[in-house]
Amino acid sequence: MQKIKKIGVLTSGGDAPGMNACVRAVVRTGIYYGLDVTGILSGYEGLIAGQFRAMESHSVSNIIQNGGTILKTARSKEFMTKEGRQKAYENLKKDSFDALITIGGNGTFAGACEFSSEYDFPVIGIPGTIDNDLYGTDFTIGFDTALNTVVSAIDKIRDTADSHNRLFFIEVMGRDAGFLALRSGIAGGAEDILVPETETHIEELIEILEKGFRKNKRSGIIVVAEGDSSGGAFEIARKVSEKYDHYETRVTILGHVQRGGSPSCFDRFLAGRLGYESVKALLNGQRGVMAGLISTKVEFTPLVKSVKHHKDINREFLEMARILAM
Ligand code: F6P
Repeated sequence: MQKIKKIGVLTSGGDAPGMNACVRAVVRTGIYYGLDVTGILSGYEGLIAGQFRAMESHSVSNIIQNGGTILKTARSKEFMTKEGRQKAYENLKKDSFDALITIGGNGTFAGACEFSSEYDFPVIGIPGTIDNDLYGTDFTIGFDTALNTVVSAIDKIRDTADSHNRLFFIEVMGRDAGFLALRSGIAGGAEDILVPETETHIEELIEILEKGFRKNKRSGIIVVAEGDSSGGAFEIARKVSEKYDHYETRVTILGHVQRGGSPSCFDRFLAGRLGYESVKALLNGQRGVMAGLISTKVEFTPLVKSVKHHKDINREFLEMARILAM
């Protein structure tokens, strides 16, 4: 096995709070173990364009508390092509890289899988996405911070919903998964939570609203995951208003505010731990894996598995949410 002397680190896909804390952990652990660490700018785009920046310990000072990513990020179309990946490989070889650490989500790891199968190049993935939709980890970096952002928004909206006796439909991100919606909905006491993993039935939702109304509820919050089968918050609000007129309705789309902000303590700690363990794992010969937190331990799952396997929400939480909101 080739001795690892120089590693590259990049962030790719949608940014997530805690990515900076993770870059810091990779850089400082790498330096501690005597490695050259180079930051690759703008994800795979920068890998293809050869945009590299040598990292020192001070390059990552004062970033642990910042959202976004100092390395910048991108969703690279070119890396999805054979030619793009070849350019990336040539750049890595030209600059004598021995391994790569990629921080990102599903798309990032899909690219990493293709790349490492074509070029037998050591890659370790670290899950960084607010969606929490990766198999092989209970939590992704950024999820907890985004949850706190959503819950704080729900709390504020509840004040106005309650004052005006209104029903709010709050749309949250998550792509085609309902992790963010489910957990924030429960933490925010939502009357119902609509997620892509289950079919949304308008009659069922109206029945829940009516039950609440009979129990003297005069306002409410419905959290809608962006990928829900209802077609989104505006659509479901329109359909409910057509059939049920006990509430005046309003819609709030939280959007990209969910991706920003200072990372929570949980995300900083997770980022530090996964960054630190990933560098150690590389030095111990691990390749083609994703670092994840399972229960309380850092475990490594083959990248192929993390990309191909589907992580499901805990469906009982949907039932629990309804019971707790009644
Ligand atoms: O994957 C993170 C995420 O924020 C998703 O929740 C959302 O669907 C998507 O990225 C939005 O992507 P973009 O920033 O490219 O619009």
